[in-house]
Amino acid sequence: VSLYDVLLFLHVVGAFALIGAITLFSIVIVATWRAERPSDIVEFAGVTRLGGLLVMVGTLMTVVFGLWLAIDLDQYRVWDGWVVAAIILWAIGSETGRRSADAYERIGTEAAQFAQEPVTVRPEFRARSRSVQALGMHLVATCAVLLILADMIWKPGA
Ligand code: HEM
Repeated sequence: VSLYDVLLFLHVVGAFALIGAITLFSIVIVATWRAERPSDIVEFAGVTRLGGLLVMVGTLMTVVFGLWLAIDLDQYRVWDGWVVAAIILWAIGSETGRRSADAYERIGTEAAQFAQEPVTVRPEFRARSRSVQALGMHLVATCAVLLILADMIWKPGA
């Protein structure tokens, strides 16, 4: 087992964690859109915590071991177009993912407050829980990660 094998393994573990987290969040978002009561949304708290952990692990592992690979392997340079593209897309994905997480966290906190109240169906909260801004950020982050994945597989220009 060479250093290269270990780096690539850890890098791809990070990639799996990111793809897993995005899949998980996409499912939870669709589920919250269908949720009738604030208490239904509160039920997702555990799953989203797992997703948050996967995002953290995946974001850090992909960038650390990705850069290490680009530096360590003789055939690539950090300033190669496809590597620079990955770094830029990674930054866009991290920032939009963070904003989406913040927006959904606010919705979750609000849901937890409403869930304490006797009125179970709240149309105005339901409308807010379907935040277009939060969804938009999630979709941009998702596209960024999928573009990186394609960039990694085809390595255009390498
Ligand atoms: C700043 C970010 C990143 C950098 C600098 C980077 C760099 C690299 C490098 C240099 C390789 C080549 C290894 C080889 O030729 O064997 C690689 C492979 C790979 N990367 Fe990344 N990476 C980054 C982010 C990501 C992300 C976010 C994902 C997941 C979505 C990802 C998924 C992959 C996969 C699946 C491979 C193996 C593909 C293959 O070689 O066929 N990378 N990465």
